[in-house]
Amino acid sequence: MRILVLGGDGFCGWPTSLHLSASDHEVTIVDNFSRRRIDDELGASSLTPIESLAGRVAAWHEVTGRTIDTIELDVAQDYDGLLAVLERVQPDAIVHFAEQRAAPYSMKTSATKRYTVDNNVNATHNLLAAIVESGLDPHVVHLGTMGVYGYGTAGVRIPEGYLTVGMHGADGEVIETEILYPANPGSVYHMTKTLDQLMFAYYVKNDRLRVTDLHQGIVWGTQTSETELDPRLINRFDYDGDYGTVLNRFLMEAAVGHPLTVHGTGGQKRAFIHIQNTVQCIRLAIENPPATDAGRVRIFNQMTETHRVRDLAEMVARMTGATISYVDNPRNEAPENELLVANDGLIELGLFPLTLEDNLMDEVLDVARAYVERADLDRIPSVSQWVRPRRVPAAN
Ligand SMILES: NC(=O)c1ccc[n+]([C@@H]2O[C@H](COP(=O)([O-])OP(=O)(O)OC[C@H]3O[C@@H](n4cnc5c(N)ncnc54)[C@H](O)[C@@H]3O)[C@@H](O)[C@H]2O)c1
Repeated sequence: MRILVLGGDGFCGWPTSLHLSASDHEVTIVDNFSRRRIDDELGASSLTPIESLAGRVAAWHEVTGRTIDTIELDVAQDYDGLLAVLERVQPDAIVHFAEQRAAPYSMKTSATKRYTVDNNVNATHNLLAAIVESGLDPHVVHLGTMGVYGYGTAGVRIPEGYLTVGMHGADGEVIETEILYPANPGSVYHMTKTLDQLMFAYYVKNDRLRVTDLHQGIVWGTQTSETELDPRLINRFDYDGDYGTVLNRFLMEAAVGHPLTVHGTGGQKRAFIHIQNTVQCIRLAIENPPATDAGRVRIFNQMTETHRVRDLAEMVARMTGATISYVDNPRNEAPENELLVANDGLIELGLFPLTLEDNLMDEVLDVARAYVERADLDRIPSVSQWVRPRRVPAAN
């Protein structure tokens, strides 16, 4: 298939592009390199030394003989450019990763909140409007987040996107209907993903677009079977307080001899997926598209296991001898929650889940140890505060 990967230079996008190319698909990456510029803005950089995108695709060609095309374009700002790309490439599928994806970054300042909303909402809407204007029928595979469901204790197994509810009709009879599981964002970033959901629902209803929304858990790991083929293909590894995700941060902290920084009690239960499974899920979604007359967005929960944050810290501490430091939680979230998640859809399509028991944590530790001299320990603390003190006390 011809596949456009929007945001294909990022942590999930790069290994996905390689995996799709290795699976005989024709891949074109679109990226505006905003993620690399945010590294500069934050004074942080990937722990692993990543090549420029031109260097990456040249190395891929040298190692495998396969070609990946690249286009520098801002999906959120350059609508005409995006439409021209669609008309030129005529993609069968479009993977949409091109959003600002860090919750802490989205909560830093009013400027980063506004950037996250402008970028993410415009990127998604530009894509949907351009598909309609092009008259093409590509299958859109979007990376959403488990965070759209919220992280309270639902008391039920969280379904794959939809909930059947009963309402009382005028005569007291119960009317059943299916709704999107109630959105409950926990940051401005998560809020943009809940807005994405509504845009997809509308365009599927009105224009009969084909959309799969993958509600992904926290991705961990670094390398995939394709990025491992050559050092120039290595994936990015974020460990800083804004972009680093929890398990990779613990493993990096252990590798550099820093205490594992657990926010609050560490009682937060979250869903996880290894990057190798991420790329497989996306390929499975692309190779098994929904029908044009599906009538609704197809939603899968893209995760393989759930863990409590403090249990992960204890597991990494046992493996490595690291100490654990419980620090104030900068986020506004429940200190403890339960989380049960349905993930049958991708497993039915053929996903074989990798879990923490598959010894993949050693690989992350090895990568972190190999690049220990690139670590800037001052970038580890998460300083982005969810709630700021008011100048005027809130009325009761
Ligand atoms: N990493 C995770 O743990 C995780 C978990 C759940 C969901 N996701 C979702 O997966 C997607 C990819 O995440 P990631 O970790 O690879 O993030 P990332 O920041 O590493 O990659 C995103 C890429 O998109 C590009 N981009 C952003 N805005 C763009 C624009 N307007 N035009 C063109 N390119 C643009 C960036 O330059 C970057 O290369 C995101 O949408 C994120 O919400 C990620």
